[in-house]
Amino acid sequence: MPCPEVTPLSVRRARPDGSAGSPQRRVLDPRAGRSQAGGMSPLSVPHWYVCPSARFWNCPPAPDGARAFHASLPGYAPTPLTELPALARGLGVGRLFAKDESARLGLPAFKALGATWAVHRLLEEHAGGGPVTLVTATDGNHGRAVARTARLRGQRAHVFVSRGVHPAAVAAVAGEGARVTTVDGPYDEAVRAARAAAGAPGTLLVQDSGQPGYERVPGWIVEGYATLFAETDEQLARAGAAPPDLVAVPAGVGSLAQAAVVHYRSPREGRRPPVLLTAEPEAAPCVLTSLRHGEPRTVPTGETAMAGLNCGTPSLLAWPYLRDGIDAAVAVDDAAGAAAARDLAAHGVPAGPCGAAPLAGLRAALGAAARPGLDLAPDATVVLLSTEGAEANPGYSPA
Ligand SMILES: Cc1ncc(COP(=O)(O)O)c(C=O)c1O
Repeated sequence: MPCPEVTPLSVRRARPDGSAGSPQRRVLDPRAGRSQAGGMSPLSVPHWYVCPSARFWNCPPAPDGARAFHASLPGYAPTPLTELPALARGLGVGRLFAKDESARLGLPAFKALGATWAVHRLLEEHAGGGPVTLVTATDGNHGRAVARTARLRGQRAHVFVSRGVHPAAVAAVAGEGARVTTVDGPYDEAVRAARAAAGAPGTLLVQDSGQPGYERVPGWIVEGYATLFAETDEQLARAGAAPPDLVAVPAGVGSLAQAAVVHYRSPREGRRPPVLLTAEPEAAPCVLTSLRHGEPRTVPTGETAMAGLNCGTPSLLAWPYLRDGIDAAVAVDDAAGAAAARDLAAHGVPAGPCGAAPLAGLRAALGAAARPGLDLAPDATVVLLSTEGAEANPGYSPA
């Protein structure tokens, strides 16, 4: 465990080789604008986590393959990396960019990167085995991506949709030709229902959350997300920007955050590793809660406009990467998310609620008390992953 000690005030820097004495975990409440030292138990402050030594942890890179596969798909094009100078000034950082996933392989979210690569790998293995039904659970975007991929590959899909997903988003999954079963329960329950249904002959489970004994497919999904980060590297270089000092990632079960860890924590010659900040809804902070406790935790989930992030349990495949490689995590409420969505839209990034969460999270993280824990210089380059467009969440209006 990288951060065995909770030390609210004194954070010692780890050495770049990660060999520094004891890594430290720092817990602040950015909304309170001060660190929670003294009488208060750090774990009683639910909104913030920082572990500066995590940026010096490293792991092997993602295997090759997904990027070339995506580039071979009809309609593939890198999504835009939009620079946001006015917002950068407001936040007091050097250069700010949003990776805009509002139109990815014909869908309004990044999820097709994982679904297409995982389904490709599964069907390769299954070649000659006859038609299949691809089964998954979703809170919106992943299910639509699996349904679309199944249709394009001439296969069937059965998608279990959790409670709280907007009817228009459910209709969009059905519109891909999938059979849809709505589950009157939270996302975790939809995952259980999909898993049970995938026991039937002729079915293949395509879930983006790993559990013991079910790791290969979510592993391929995470590999698929690597394309987004490779594009970002190239686009930053073309913009004459430095490699990122901070990357803000929205987290549901944490598979996208796992892909961020794999990308930015694998050895990179002479580059200072960025801070990786996860942003979650206050209604479902499973990654933040798990990081604060040092072990995977299930949290009760509530209602949030950030439907794609409304997950109660982190992926157990992602967990070791999140534990060791994520150095900051924050939870934000829907009002902060809506304000971020409005600001991104005003600057040309049509973010849906999950896509706006990183900006909301960054704002909380850059609050006066939190910034020192992040060790971010005023000329820092920051990347926000705007993982869905407004169209992904048709019922949502941040106005
Ligand atoms: C738009 C969007 N952003 C981010 C995420 C979070 O991804 P993960 O569940 O891998 O953490 C999701 C998950 O569904 C999503 O739909």
